[in-house]
This record gives sequence, C-alpha cells and structure tokens, in this order.
Amino acid sequence: MALDLPVTRPLHLEATRPVQAHGASKSTSSPFVTTSRVSAALALAGLARQCGVLRRATAVKKKGVRVVEGKEIPWNLFSPKAPYKGSTVSKETITSKTPLVNWETCHVIMDHGGKVPYIEGQSIGIIAPGPDKKGETPAKIRLYSIASSAPGDDEKNNTVSLVVKRVVEVAGRGWCEYSNVEKGKDPEFPDAAKVYRGVCSSHICDLNAGDDVLITGPTGAEMLLPEDPEANMIFMATGTGIAPFRSHLRNLFHDRVSKGKFKGVAWLFLGVPFSQSLLYDEEWKEMQAEYPDQFRYDYAVSSEEKSEKNKINGEMWVQHKMMQYADDLWELVKDPKTHVYMCGLKGMESGFAECFQERVEAEGMVYAEFLKKMKKDKRYHVEVY
Ligand SMILES: Cc1cc2nc3c(=O)[nH]c(=O)nc-3n(C[C@H](O)[C@H](O)[C@H](O)COP(=O)(O)OP(=O)(O)OC[C@H]3O[C@@H](n4cnc5c(N)ncnc54)[C@H](O)[C@@H]3O)c2cc1C
Ligand SMILES: NC(=O)c1ccc[n+]([C@@H]2O[C@H](COP(=O)([O-])OP(=O)(O)OC[C@H]3O[C@@H](n4cnc5c(N)ncnc54)[C@H](OP(=O)(O)O)[C@@H]3O)[C@@H](O)[C@H]2O)c1
Repeated sequence: MALDLPVTRPLHLEATRPVQAHGASKSTSSPFVTTSRVSAALALAGLARQCGVLRRATAVKKKGVRVVEGKEIPWNLFSPKAPYKGSTVSKETITSKTPLVNWETCHVIMDHGGKVPYIEGQSIGIIAPGPDKKGETPAKIRLYSIASSAPGDDEKNNTVSLVVKRVVEVAGRGWCEYSNVEKGKDPEFPDAAKVYRGVCSSHICDLNAGDDVLITGPTGAEMLLPEDPEANMIFMATGTGIAPFRSHLRNLFHDRVSKGKFKGVAWLFLGVPFSQSLLYDEEWKEMQAEYPDQFRYDYAVSSEEKSEKNKINGEMWVQHKMMQYADDLWELVKDPKTHVYMCGLKGMESGFAECFQERVEAEGMVYAEFLKKMKKDKRYHVEVY
C-alpha cells in the first residue's frame, strides 16, 4: 500500500527488538495508560481533595479515578459545581476564511497547573460565563475532546489543549433557527435578520492569554488507545473530530516520553469542507515524513473534490477517500490488532459500513455480526453526534 505499510505482513510481526511499553517507565506494562501517569493523577486527586476541591474524605476510595479495563484513569476530578479555574496560555485561529460563516476554528492552550491530569482520548468540560440559551448564568457545561496528549503541548504536564469551532449561524447563510444577537448589532453581520453565536464556542474562541477558564472533568473512556504497542489504528475525523487523534498521534509519534515505543501503524483520514479548513496539516505532514512506514495521512476536502460514491451530495467525504484505499484498509480492518476510531459527524459510522460491507459479505460474513464482533473485541471506537 502507498504507506508502504506491509499490510499482508504487518509491521508489528516484523519487530525483532523486544517491545518496550510506551510512557515514562521501561517496566510499565501498559503502554498508554501508564502507571506513572495514573499515579500522578491519583496523587493529584489526593492533592485536590486535601485542598478541599473534592469534598468527601470517604472519596479516598477512588474519587477522581475510574477503572477502565482494569486500569485506573483520571475521572471527573472537577465537577460543574466545583470546576477548576485554569488560565488561558494562548489562543490561535488555525483555519482561514472560507465562504462559510462558521469558518473559524481555534487551538486553545489552557494551564491547569497540573491539577487536571488526563489521558489521551478523554474530554473536558468548559463552563462559559453565559448567558446560556435559556438565560442561565454561568452557562451549562459543554464537552470538548482534548486535543493534546497527556503531557500537554509543551510536555510539562501543566496544560490541556482544545480545538474549537466557533458556532455562527446567520439567516440566509445556511441553517439559522435561533438568535441571540440583537438585530443590527452583530459586528460581522449587521445586516442579517438573525444571528446566533454559540455560547461556549464563542467564549473559548474569544479567550486571550491570561483569561480565566472554568474546567470540569476529565471524562470519557470510549476513545482511549489500546495498550498493545503493536496495535494498528485507523482514525476517521471530520472537522474538530480531529481532537482525540491529535492527542493520540502526539503520544505515538511526538512526545519525548513515549515517542518510538509504538510498533504498529496509524492511518489518519480527515474530512473538512475547504483546504483552508484543514486542521494541523503541517503536524501530520511532519509526522509522515519522520515515520513513513508507520504513519499515513489522507484528507478529503468536500467542496474541492468530487466522489461518485457519495450518493448524497457527490462530494468527497472521509469514507469516500477511504474507499480509494479500501483493499489495503480491509486487510488492516480484518487484523485483530487493528482499532478503528471515528470522531466528529455521525454520518461516518454509515460511511464506514459503506466502505466495508461488501468486503465483509464477500468473505461470507454478515456485516452486523462483523461489527458486533469488532465492538466485543473493543476495537471499534466511536464518538460522533
Ligand atoms: C464528547 C464531545 C466532544 C466534543 N468535542 C468538541 C471539540 O473538540 N471541538 C468542538 O468545537 N466541539 C466539540 N463538541 C461540541 C461542543 O460540546 C459544543 O456543543 C459546541 O462547541 C457548541 O457549543 P456552543 O455553546 O458554542 O453552542 P450553543 O450555544 O450550545 O448552540 C448550539 C446549537 O443550539 C442551537 N440553539 C440555540 N438556542 C436553542 C434553543 N433554545 N433550543 C434548541 N437549540 C438552540 C443553536 O442554534 C446551535 O445550533 C463536543 C461535544 C461532545 C458531546
Ligand atoms: N467527541 C466528539 O463527539 C466530537 C469531537 C469534536 C467534534 N465533534 C462534532 O463533530 C462535528 C464536526 O463538525 P465540524 O463543523 O468541525 O466539521 P466541518 O469542518 O464542517 O467538516 C465536516 C466535513 O464532513 C463532511 N461531511 C458532511 N456529512 C458527512 C457525512 N455524513 N459523513 C462524512 N463526512 C461528512 C462535510 O462535507 P460537506 O461540505 O459536504 O458538508 C465536511 O467536509 C461537529 O458536529 C462537532 O461538534 C464531536
């Protein structure tokens, strides 16, 4: 296959060196959910409790921690009633203008002072000052997938990063049912009959360095990486659904503490509307240049490329891009060491089925049964809505 991924003879089977676990410690048996990291989480949970952030002393039992497949991971150290007050390190718009009113996506780095440990694939909640849709102040929490790996972008264990799309809806420019901007007062669309600006996404995309930010969590266990350093990964993302995969890929191919430990292959498919909307494109290209045998990146830019396979609007979506490599991908999907991840728009699940159903059936299996088995084997991970 183009990646030179030896799919018929998977790379992990060729490994001759003993496989060393990911993470800080050589002796750690779990490559991704490292003992040291969870100990740190537990220690921090303890610290948070001592500080009175988490209330009940009985919580020593396991408050702030959840056991997932036998491993302890940080879990809801901070609740909506007692969020952690972090501060903004930086906020950067990482997309350029397109004809869409909601073209802007921001990368935001927040300092949690080491108090909100998390592992790759989890999410945090953000509480905006409000008013919310129904007038609540502060607003109810919104969840965001974490876009940084556990050590944070600067690898000092003090920050968490998000990739957030600014929700903007304008009458006459796509769907716009509600309005929370006084008519004629929107700075960007003063002539529009109706404008709605997302409560929390606007709050996050308007943050400046030094601004306070209220954080809850961490939470989420669906998108965690497998422990096996020889596992393979297929990542399917639409738009900001890239977040958990940035977290994973930095763990696998970037961070000092874990880089070089991964022995499998990872293939990222990203779908966006315009090339100006591509997220972290340079990071993926650099990773691919450094790890050509282990990492591959392909993208589908819907408004710029057509696919006759898309019966809905004829545009190139992630699943149609994947269809171009379906033979190679099918070999990977069948490999019991391969995990499939989807994050972003709900339509990707049926897109995955469109890609592989025929192949499943050609091998005498029923798609629903095949999927059931993948889920049972915990190698089908979906966070879409
Ligand atoms: C697990 C998870 C992870 C996520 N990760 C990310 C991520 O990494 N990046 C990201 O950008 N987003 C992510 N999201 C989405 C995020 O949580 C927010 O939903 C998103 O940012 C929009 O929030 P908002 O407050 O800006 O919009 P809101 O103000 O909540 O508006 C959302 C919609 O509600 C509509 N609305 C307004 N008023 C009403 C009303 N009265 N009744 C009904 N509808 C109304 C608006 O028109 C708009 O379409 C994630 C969601 C989940 C569940
Ligand atoms: N953890 C989570 O659950 C999580 C995390 C992050 C984001 N999200 C959610 O994921 C969504 C991502 O949206 P976004 O606005 O960031 O993305 P976006 O930039 O609008 O990109 C979406 C891309 O997907 C294409 N697309 C449309 N329908 C599709 C389908 N059925 N299957 C595959 N691709 C399809 C679009 O093509 P067209 O141009 O043809 O429409 C577009 O190219 C949002 O709803 C976001 O809130 C969820």
